[in-house]
Amino acid sequence: MQNAHATSRLLMCPPDHYGIRYVINPWMEGHVGRVNAARARAQWDVLHNTLAALTRVELLRPTPELPDLVFTANAGLVLDGTVVPAAFRVPERKGEEATNAEAFQKLRFNLEELGPDQPFEGEGDALFQPGEPLLWAGYGVRSSIEAHPALTKIFGVEVVSLRLMDPRFYHLDTCFLPLPGGRAAYFAAAFDEPSLAEIRKRIPAARRIEVSEEDALGFACNAVRIGRTLVTGNASADLCAKLEAWGFAVKICDVSEFLLAGGGCKCLTLQLAQDPGCSPAGRGPFASEVRTTRLEMRGHLLDTGLLNRVISAATDAGLGFRVEKLTAGERHDQPSVATIRVTGRNELHLNNAVAELMSLGAHPISSEPADAETAPAPKDGVAPEDFYSSTIYPTFVRVNGRLVKAQNQRMDGMLVISGQGAGIQAHCTILRNLKKGDRVVVGVHGVRVDTPEVNAHGEGFSFMSAGVSSERRVEHSVDELAWEIRRVKDRGGKVAIVSGPVVIHTGGGPHLQRLIEHGFVQVLLTGNALPTHDIESNMFGTSLGVDLARGRGVRGGHTHHLRAINRVRNAGSIKAAVESGAITGGLMHACVRHGVNYVLAGSIRDDGPLPDTIMDLEKAQEAYATALKGCEVVLMLSTMLHAIGVGNMTPAGVKLICVDINPAVVTKLADRGSVESVGIVTDVGLFLNLLARRLCDKM
Ligand code: ARG
Repeated sequence: MQNAHATSRLLMCPPDHYGIRYVINPWMEGHVGRVNAARARAQWDVLHNTLAALTRVELLRPTPELPDLVFTANAGLVLDGTVVPAAFRVPERKGEEATNAEAFQKLRFNLEELGPDQPFEGEGDALFQPGEPLLWAGYGVRSSIEAHPALTKIFGVEVVSLRLMDPRFYHLDTCFLPLPGGRAAYFAAAFDEPSLAEIRKRIPAARRIEVSEEDALGFACNAVRIGRTLVTGNASADLCAKLEAWGFAVKICDVSEFLLAGGGCKCLTLQLAQDPGCSPAGRGPFASEVRTTRLEMRGHLLDTGLLNRVISAATDAGLGFRVEKLTAGERHDQPSVATIRVTGRNELHLNNAVAELMSLGAHPISSEPADAETAPAPKDGVAPEDFYSSTIYPTFVRVNGRLVKAQNQRMDGMLVISGQGAGIQAHCTILRNLKKGDRVVVGVHGVRVDTPEVNAHGEGFSFMSAGVSSERRVEHSVDELAWEIRRVKDRGGKVAIVSGPVVIHTGGGPHLQRLIEHGFVQVLLTGNALPTHDIESNMFGTSLGVDLARGRGVRGGHTHHLRAINRVRNAGSIKAAVESGAITGGLMHACVRHGVNYVLAGSIRDDGPLPDTIMDLEKAQEAYATALKGCEVVLMLSTMLHAIGVGNMTPAGVKLICVDINPAVVTKLADRGSVESVGIVTDVGLFLNLLARRLCDKM
C-alpha cells in the first residue's frame, strides 16, 4: 500500500480467516462454526468486484485468529487523512487493533488514539452526514458516549450522540444510513426517543425514510454508497423505489454468510475518504455538548442492591457510566463507598438523569458546593422548563450557601424558594399551586436528597421491608404489620386506610370494622363505592346486589346501591344518616361512631354520589393530603388509583403497605424503595381477617 488517502475510497479485508468462533452479538448466537467458507469467499468476491468497479479499494492483510477482521468498518474512522483507530469494547476483537494500526501507518494516516476507557468501534458506530461537518455517533451497546467529546475535538466536526437500544442493532451502521442532500434512511425502533427526536430535528420529513422492520432486519441500512450507487445485501421493492426516487441506484450483493455474524455490505468496508464538505473547514470548530459529572454514594450499596439500582437507572436514562471507585464494606454493618462517573448527551439530559439518581442516593461531587439555580414560574400553574421534580425523600436546597430543608415533602412537586436572609424557606409545591414569578429550583445543582437506604444500618432496616411478599410470607407480614400498628396506636399515632370497594365484596368489611372499633384506624381514604356498598349491605344485606351471606344475586338487587345512596342523600350526609338511624351498622357507621376521619374522593363512574363524596378532584386531592398529615402507617387495600395518589403525597418515612390480589398493582406501588413500602399479594378479605384476629382477639 502507498500513501493513498487522497484517492482511495475503501478498505476491505479478504475473508481468508473469516468464521464465527464466538458470540458477541445476537446474530452470532447458534452460528458458531456454521459459516460456509466457500460461499463466504464467493459472496465477498462479488462485493469486492462490484465496489472495485466503482472506486478504488485497498486491502487489509487477513490475519489468522481474527475472524471478524473482515468487518473493516470497525477498524477506525477516517477524515482527511486522520484516523481514530477503533478501541474495541469486546475483548474478542481487541487483537484486531494491532493489524489495523499497521495498515493505517502504511497508508500514512495520522493516528489519533482515544484515551483508555473510551470504547469506540470505528465507522461501525460513527457515520458522517455526506457533505456536512456532522458526525452521527452511536453509543450504548459497543461504543461509549465517553468517546464522543474526543471525536468532536479531533475532527472539529459537530457530533450528535445517538443511543442504540436494540442489541440486534448494536452498531450505528446496522440501522442508520446518512445520504447526501441532508437525507437519511434508518430504523426508528433501534433508537431511544431523544435520539429519534434529534434525527427528526435535523432531517426534515421529506428527506428521511424510516425503514420497515423487515428491511432493518435484512440490514438494508447497512449499505455502501459510491456516488449515487448504493450497494446493500437486501432491500424491499418499496425501499428501493423510495431510494430510486431520490436518485440512487440500488445494487443488491448477497452477503448472507456475513449476516450470520451480524455484518452486512457496509460492515465489510471502511471509507478512507469522506465526501467533500465533511471537513469542518471554516464552519467549525464545534464544541461537544456531551457532559460528564461524578457522583458519590455511601452506605449499604451492595446488601441493599442500591448500586445495582443506580447503575440500571443510569443505563435506562441513556447515560454512559463508569464505576471509578468502589470500596466495599467488609461487614454487614460497614458502609460501602462508590464513585461513579456519568456522561449525558448534553447538560439537560445529564441534569434530568442525575436528579433521578439522586433519589437513589447518588450525589454529585463538587469541589465548591453551588447554590441552587432558580427561575421564575412563567405563569400561574406553570413551572420553568427544566424544573427540578421532587421525590418522597427529605430534600435540602442550598440558598446563599446555606442548606434549607424543603417543607411539605412529596413526590412530583416543584421546589419553591421564598423569603430573604435568615427567613429563607423552601417548599414542595404542586404544579397547579405555582404562582407566576415563584422562584422555582431548576436543574440539580445545590439540591441534596437524603435517602434512607443509604443511611440504614445493620439488619434493623430489613424489618417490614420484604419488598413484595406473597403466599407463604403473608402471615409473617401480617404479624410484623400488627406489631407496628399496635405500637403506633400505643403512642397515639395515626394509621390511615386507603381502600377500594373490593374490601366489601370480599367480605372484609366486618374485619375492617373491628379494627376501627378497636381504635386501630384514624383515617379512611376511599371513593364513593366503598361507603355505598357498605351502606347498601347494612340496609339491604347485599353488596352491588349480591347477597353477601350466600354469595348469590338478589332479585332487583342491582338497584339497591342507588336506593341506599338515595336514603343518605335524603339524610344530608353519612353522619346524619347514622344519627337519624337510617344506617344502623357497618363500616361507615363505625367510622362515624369512632371519630375516624374519612375522605371520599369521587370519580367519573360514581353513581349518586353520596353527599359526602367530593367530586371536585383538586379539592379531593387536597382533602386527602390534609387527612394524611401525621399518619405513620398507610394501608392500601385493593385500590390502584387512590393508592398511587396517596403514594405521591406521602413523604418518605411513612410506611406504605399495599395489599392486592394482582401482583402488578402491588409491584407498581411497592416501587418506591424497599424501606418505604411493602407489598402483599393476597385476597384483601382474607388479609383483613388475619390482621383483625392478630390485633383484636385476646391472645
Ligand atoms: N461480528 C462482528 C461484531 O459483532 C460484526 C461486526 C459488524 N460490523 C459493523 N460495522 N456493524 O463485532
